[in-house]
Amino acid sequence: MAKIKTENTKLAVIGLGYVGLPLAHAFSFRYPVVGFDIAQWRINELQQGHDRTLELSDEQVKEAIDNGMLFTNELDDIKECNVYIVTVPTPIDEHKTPDLTPLKKASESIGKVLKAGDIVIYESTVYPGATEEVCIPILEKVSGLKYISTENNSTLNTQNYDAIVLAVAHNEFKAMDLNASEDTVVFDIKGILNKDAVDGRL
Ligand SMILES: NC(=O)c1ccc[n+]([C@@H]2O[C@H](COP(=O)([O-])OP(=O)(O)OC[C@H]3O[C@@H](n4cnc5c(N)ncnc54)[C@H](O)[C@@H]3O)[C@@H](O)[C@H]2O)c1
Repeated sequence: MAKIKTENTKLAVIGLGYVGLPLAHAFSFRYPVVGFDIAQWRINELQQGHDRTLELSDEQVKEAIDNGMLFTNELDDIKECNVYIVTVPTPIDEHKTPDLTPLKKASESIGKVLKAGDIVIYESTVYPGATEEVCIPILEKVSGLKYISTENNSTLNTQNYDAIVLAVAHNEFKAMDLNASEDTVVFDIKGILNKDAVDGRL
């Protein structure tokens, strides 16, 4: 897994469910974080300091707000971000075919605010190749930028690309180096959520 250096990191977490909300809370101790969700009711309850899924206690939701975290469904609020972490659902139908609609819609939203140099991390569960075949074409079309994916690239030559897409499959979390240097996105994901918490989600 490549480790991407970032400076002046400002995170957007797209999809504040079981995965996204605790991730956003954990990151809020270290970075400015904007939590984005399309569900108005979800944003309302989080702004009022409550998570009905109880992934976070009321105290933890307030902690995130005190850390400066913004809960929003306005695209304008994430346009200053430079790292986008996608945690929208990928449900499967009765034929076990994944429904990638939320992922496509999230990619469209991000494409509208992306700037050269930004990083997009897909944490939603996807089949191999989905980021390159489904998500990147949407990002490129909507933003007009050119992206490289780490999905099939063990070494990255980013010179010819405007931005980077990381496909972070959950089984890859285990393989990633917990002691990676401090200025990497990968380190940040694993360094803030402790190893047991990360392993517990796999
Ligand atoms: N729940 C887990 O323990 C777990 C573990 C590993 C991986 N995953 C994967 O992580 C992803 C998210 O799972 P989850 O359980 O957190 O889902 P979830 O259903 O709890 O939450 C998803 C959130 O995304 C929001 N959303 C949907 N479409 C959106 C869009 N276009 N833009 C912004 N927000 C949008 C929904 O309103 C919802 O609040 C899935 O792909 C899942 O397979 C989940």
